[in-house]
Amino acid sequence: LRTGTASSHGKTILIGEHAVVYGVPALVLPVLDVRVTATATPVALDAGSRLESTVHTGPLDTAPAAVLPTVTAVTATLRHLGAPEQHLHVVVDSAVPTARGMGSSAAVAAAVTAAVADVFGRTLDVEEHHELVQECERVAHGRPSGLDARGVVADVPVWFEDGVVEPVPLGAVFTFVVADTGVPGHTRQAVAAVRAEHDRDPQAVDAVIAAIGDLARRARGTLVDGDAQALGATMDAAHELLTALDVSSADLDRLVDAARRADALGAKLTGGGRGGCVLALAADGEHADRVAAALRAAGATETWTTTIGARA
Ligand code: PMV
Repeated sequence: LRTGTASSHGKTILIGEHAVVYGVPALVLPVLDVRVTATATPVALDAGSRLESTVHTGPLDTAPAAVLPTVTAVTATLRHLGAPEQHLHVVVDSAVPTARGMGSSAAVAAAVTAAVADVFGRTLDVEEHHELVQECERVAHGRPSGLDARGVVADVPVWFEDGVVEPVPLGAVFTFVVADTGVPGHTRQAVAAVRAEHDRDPQAVDAVIAAIGDLARRARGTLVDGDAQALGATMDAAHELLTALDVSSADLDRLVDAARRADALGAKLTGGGRGGCVLALAADGEHADRVAAALRAAGATETWTTTIGARA
């Protein structure tokens, strides 16, 4: 046995939040530059397992509810590897913010499960890794869609449609800026509000959902073609449709406007809405710096720039 290490990253939704709940396709974007690292060190049986993270430092078996998904990452992986009695000292260092739609719980689970496997010299294959992360996500969220679990282990955008999950090859490098409103997202409430409106006026809501599905298909084509201008246009259009679903907020709209005034190629809220983050597309790294500065000037509490595609 040895000290195991692994890392993972955040995710955000490129196109398709809310609409995906009604069965239309969605595109998830790995945020490769916002990372989680985990190490797992085997310790003697009498030492007991420990966790060290910003949320909790102390024995694993008395960890508070907030870190139960992380505890599950350790215990489920040990059980999966046939070594449930092994004790470990696990250290987690996460730059993925919580409650911002960036997949923090899944990202931590992905890093911890892989680090524990690495203790035994094992590399989890994609499906077994996904299953273990989903087990942690069930502890974190009850009935997770699997979007987060896929996004945090992918290195290209991921297409979701009818339970089919497909990587989308990229025709160019794309540079995104994620900006935090500083307000936690309210995914559950927003999903319930869309459901209530759908009950009230199914035709109108179905039309918006279908239009978001069309945008997801168009966006997928722009990624493959490497057409950033056209991708940006689909993001702008998606924000308008999400606004029509009433899941935006004054804070999100202000940041989207600021990104557009800084000539972002497109900008939209991302994730559940009513708080959380916006996602903007920049032309390149230098432009991303300007977009990020504009977002901060408009009140973003934090911004992250991330590139995807062929990397330098
Ligand atoms: O806020 P996030 O990134 O967890 O995304 C929620 C996505 C929704 O489509 C609004 C809900 C869902 O379960 O798919």
